[in-house]
Amino acid sequence: MNKNNTEAINTENTKLASDRIIELRNNNEQYFIMNGRRKTFHILTYGCQMNEHDSEKIGGMLTSIGYEETDDEKNADLVIFNTCLIRENAELKVFGKLGEVKGLKRNKPDMMVAVCGCMMQKEEIRQKLLKKFSFVDIIFGTNTIQELPRLIYNVEVNKKKSVDIIDNTELIYENMPKTRKFKYKALVNITYGCNNFCTYCVVPYVRGREKSRLPGEIINEIKMLAEDGCKEITLLGQNVNSYGNNLDNKTTFAELLYELNKIDGIERIRFMTSHPKDLTDDLIKAIKECDKVCNHVHLPVQAGSNEILKRMNRRYTKEHYLNLVEKLKKEIPDVAITTDIIVGFPGETEEDFQETIDIIKKVQYDSAFTFLYSVREGTKAAEMEDQIPDEIKHDRFDRLLDVLYPIVLERNSRCIGREYPVLVESVSRTSENYLTGRTEHFRLVHFKGSEELIGKTVNVKITNVKTFHMEGEIVEQ
Ligand code: SAH
Ligand code: SF4
Ligand code: F3S
Repeated sequence: MNKNNTEAINTENTKLASDRIIELRNNNEQYFIMNGRRKTFHILTYGCQMNEHDSEKIGGMLTSIGYEETDDEKNADLVIFNTCLIRENAELKVFGKLGEVKGLKRNKPDMMVAVCGCMMQKEEIRQKLLKKFSFVDIIFGTNTIQELPRLIYNVEVNKKKSVDIIDNTELIYENMPKTRKFKYKALVNITYGCNNFCTYCVVPYVRGREKSRLPGEIINEIKMLAEDGCKEITLLGQNVNSYGNNLDNKTTFAELLYELNKIDGIERIRFMTSHPKDLTDDLIKAIKECDKVCNHVHLPVQAGSNEILKRMNRRYTKEHYLNLVEKLKKEIPDVAITTDIIVGFPGETEEDFQETIDIIKKVQYDSAFTFLYSVREGTKAAEMEDQIPDEIKHDRFDRLLDVLYPIVLERNSRCIGREYPVLVESVSRTSENYLTGRTEHFRLVHFKGSEELIGKTVNVKITNVKTFHMEGEIVEQ
């Protein structure tokens, strides 16, 4: 039987789980009748879009058992930390916030605290958590999200601390309920896990081996989203280009895009992340030919030096990467290319660093996420000699931004005077009369407009640009 199929899930466990869900739901209904309010939850999400989407699933499950979401963590009955450990500072943030919640729990002993996500997949971190933050009631991981109702049941009914972690699984749980943050755009998983083992990265250790969802499951989910008014989807995978590798009837990512492009109601298809080693000509053709697929490719380069790329186990060279960029620009003239860059990888010399500067200049990125290399225990790079001192890392980082930002600004300034369709996402955080949305190239735009336009696509003429956003005016159609 195909392990990707929901039927593969042990039916006995499912039956037990659904009994508990019914009991919890009944208990929460009783609570509502007695107290005139529903129990509330608050989720603190750290890390990437995978985690954001997992939080939507956690929210969906809690809503289905009778909880209600609240913005106010101080008054929540259940606080959940969905954690990330991609870099040291992500980890430190979680421990800092847990310290705050410790004080809260002292005054509110009935409040339940759960910690989940990537950090919890590491045994040493779980041990540290149990020792330093013994007030935490529930711990689960990236492969056990679906177990949350059972874990809550254990704490509420059996009065037991609950921990459920699985290192790796081939199972994919389909049809989980979700609370979506936005009505008009949605995140959709296409693969889970990663097989690439870049030597600096913890993801393969905390998200398990790569597995793809069946095309039919993805198509059905997106059709349902479209019926619900969703216009933009972002396909998620650590390496979307290797989609389908583990499926019996192999479907490539390019083939999947052609299928998704046919779905009525969806206006924009985005995807992330593309690994340069797997970006095929077929995929470039699909991006070009599918009118709903945005002309934006996030293509993490990480470093410009071939020696460093080799030590990172990225499995491409600077020349290969530049060749891809050339092809992309030739086939899709208005393509936007964005990237991730790591500065200060072990052994990086000034010459290696200059290769990174060189690639930034050659590609002319539309934007980039830049990171200081962070030592992650358990990864190969953590064991490498020649770790770079902090002051050198910071100095290179600053010099890199000095080169990058003017390029990004220059790329943005080419938009001045032009009109772009913008999917309106929300009211601007800075001013009530302003809205924000993105162009197909992922450029953030602020413009004057009223709230009713949220979820609509409007034409915006760009009047001014900054490094991280643009400003414009709605053009009447
Ligand atoms: N799967 C994606 C994203 C992985 S995490 C990809 O392959 O591109 C997002 C980014 O975090 C990575 O692209 C990398 O630039 C950065 N990153 C990962 N581990 C890191 C580390 N140990 N130190 C600094 N940056 C890191
Ligand atoms: Fe990490 Fe590399 Fe996998 Fe991306 S492709 S998640 S950087 S191991
Ligand atoms: Fe994402 Fe952080 Fe996990 S970047 S996959 S949440 S380690």
